[in-house]
Amino acid sequence: MRNGSVWKDMDGNYIQAHGGCIIKYNDMYYWYGEHKGQDNCPGYNRVDIIGVSCYSSLDLLSWKYEGLALEADKDKEDSMLHPSGVLERPKVIYNDKTKQFVMWMHLDNADYTYAGVGVAVSEHPVGPFRFLYAKHPNRQDSRDMTLFKDENGKAYLIHSKDWNKTLNIAELTDDYTDVCGVYVSVMQEQEREAPAMFKYNGMYYMITSGCTGWEPNAALYAQCLNVMGQWKLIDNPCRGDNKHNTFNGQGSYVFETNGRFYLMIDHWEPDNLQLSAYSILPIKFDKYGNMIIKWTDDWEGIKNNDKIH
Ligand code: GAL
Repeated sequence: MRNGSVWKDMDGNYIQAHGGCIIKYNDMYYWYGEHKGQDNCPGYNRVDIIGVSCYSSLDLLSWKYEGLALEADKDKEDSMLHPSGVLERPKVIYNDKTKQFVMWMHLDNADYTYAGVGVAVSEHPVGPFRFLYAKHPNRQDSRDMTLFKDENGKAYLIHSKDWNKTLNIAELTDDYTDVCGVYVSVMQEQEREAPAMFKYNGMYYMITSGCTGWEPNAALYAQCLNVMGQWKLIDNPCRGDNKHNTFNGQGSYVFETNGRFYLMIDHWEPDNLQLSAYSILPIKFDKYGNMIIKWTDDWEGIKNNDKIH
């Protein structure tokens, strides 16, 4: 698959899974993301909510469309899933105790003034997910967000707050369906969004973008020995041409496979969001421990022989 292009599923249709995430369950990969498969609303850089798509794959290259894991609620005008709203950056994690897939997403009204999250659950990876509720986590505003599940089973919601000025890392309840009231605010006043967290070699890493809407900007990574600790911003991990605008894109998630980590990137097309392209790039570390992300023309799936160092 050509990085920086629109990608097609096994039926030849454009993959509609923007701002998404990839998880592995029983040897199958599942890719969830925003279904933006319709024209922009006239005069706006937005599309109505269609829902959260799900695709499955064995090799991270051939993707089978599994349908909408969570659907817009067309019938209820006051529903947070009504098409007239905003549903972005859906993320799914599996809860080993409740055996449920738990989906969190950014929910908003068309002018982004609600700024909350939605939570949905399913017993099956492809859904249908049951919508539980929308809320302001820990009574804070919340826009771009991600989930992170640690090795010990604890999970966290990471979200931009205070009109995107600061990021919160909020611990989830044991069943992952709510925040438990414990959180830290990190990278304060740094205006970071599009968070993507992972853990490698005992260190936690977070890649974020700046706040320029659909326009690309420079990524920065931060690190910390403790999820709830004092995160330190380090540097732009990107190298080479277009390193200052994240290769003309914005990160959405880091997934791991076979001990290697990959950054999923959206290349937004603000005037026609359904044609926004994708890239998946390997994350590496140099001998000094600096994170390095370089452009590669192709995404080769699990055949990829990348070394992390
Ligand atoms: C970006 C954000 C996207 C979307 C967009 C709307 O900053 O990362 O998820 O919200 O703004 O303009």
